[in-house]
Amino acid sequence: MPYELLKESDPEVYFALKREDERQENHLELIASENFVSQAVLTAYTSTLTNKYAEGYPGKRYYGGCGPADEIENLARERLKKIFKANYANVQPHSGAQANMAVFLATMQPGDTFLGMDLSHGGHLSHGMNLNFSGLFFKPVFYGVNPETELLDYDKIYELAEKHRPKLIIAGASAYPRIIDFAKFHEIAKSVGAKLLVDMAHIAGLVATGLHPSPVGLADYITSTTHKTLRGPRGGFILTQTEENAKLIDQRVFPGVQGGPLMHVIAAKAVAFGEALQSEFLSYQKQVVQNAQVLAQTLKSRGFRLVTGGTDNHLILVNTFDTHHLTGKQAQEILEEVGITTNKNTLPFDKNKPAHGSGIRLGTPALTTRGLRESEMEKIGHLIADTLENHQDEKRKQHVAEEVKKLCKAFPMDRFRLP
Ligand SMILES: Cc1ncc(COP(=O)(O)O)c(C=O)c1O
Repeated sequence: MPYELLKESDPEVYFALKREDERQENHLELIASENFVSQAVLTAYTSTLTNKYAEGYPGKRYYGGCGPADEIENLARERLKKIFKANYANVQPHSGAQANMAVFLATMQPGDTFLGMDLSHGGHLSHGMNLNFSGLFFKPVFYGVNPETELLDYDKIYELAEKHRPKLIIAGASAYPRIIDFAKFHEIAKSVGAKLLVDMAHIAGLVATGLHPSPVGLADYITSTTHKTLRGPRGGFILTQTEENAKLIDQRVFPGVQGGPLMHVIAAKAVAFGEALQSEFLSYQKQVVQNAQVLAQTLKSRGFRLVTGGTDNHLILVNTFDTHHLTGKQAQEILEEVGITTNKNTLPFDKNKPAHGSGIRLGTPALTTRGLRESEMEKIGHLIADTLENHQDEKRKQHVAEEVKKLCKAFPMDRFRLP
């Protein structure tokens, strides 16, 4: 790693970074919102562009010396538009939450009402959580899933929209394992005169490759992160279709919610977008979905109940409470002991408090990048089940931990990295 020189100059940071390298190398990463970037993305991310201030947009900067920065931002924008067949792109948001904030400022006044998915049903905190800007300064009305099917209840969403006449409707989730019907959301928003924001942070890679229907042409604003299925550096972006919306978004991002763009991150975004335009990206995304399906099937065959019964995308919500009497927090901690990294999650209509939750969320983007395929996913499904079924049996857990190490060794992190 290039940070070897820190060993002498800053050993405290150096050894913590080393431990993180080792953690990533020796654990099975199943957090649905994480991925592993290529060496090329990482290289751009650590470039000298971190030194450059470039407030403004290409051709209209507030600082001198922005020639290369302009080139890079234009490249990122053009590649992104090409991936999603969108008319306008803003690649400056530092994160997904900030991209959402810019859209809030473009569509609402403080105190205005909007519709978003309930956090406990799979929504994101920037869609109206009481301690987030979205809930502090705006008035959220939440929709959720049907208690029987655990699928989005579009009739209910329509009813809520009719009743509350929101200025903005948000479609998109952090923990929803099925296809989202953006056309339905478009219809609902249109019928009540609301703007539609699609936050495709989780599924952007699937949308890019046609494995999830695209919101382009249906949503007024599309936000996303770059670091989940899209496999870029941490960051966000916003897509729009009309010049009017694009202009408004550019203003709301800068100077609305941000100062200078993180130009080194934009360089890394450009590289990642270039990778997403290659044909291998489609095979990768197909594998992500197939891997999720095999993992889901295996867990089901071992008696676990999955929210909605399975998955159409890259993630799975596993109920660990009803069948195995483990809260999500307990399950997460037990799996961490054997080297499997997951996150606890609330499930729709959860009986447990959010800090505990009744399940875990699993995702396949990171391990698929690492090269794991269906047979390994089946194996991992059994390792998860063995661990949670026998969590008080130290010997069984020791055996699982050894199997995890073997899998990690067979798929070293370096293998997928570009030179
Ligand atoms: C749907 C959704 N939107 C927005 C975000 C926020 O992204 P960030 O953490 O980059 O602010 C997330 C992150 O988990 C997300 O799942």
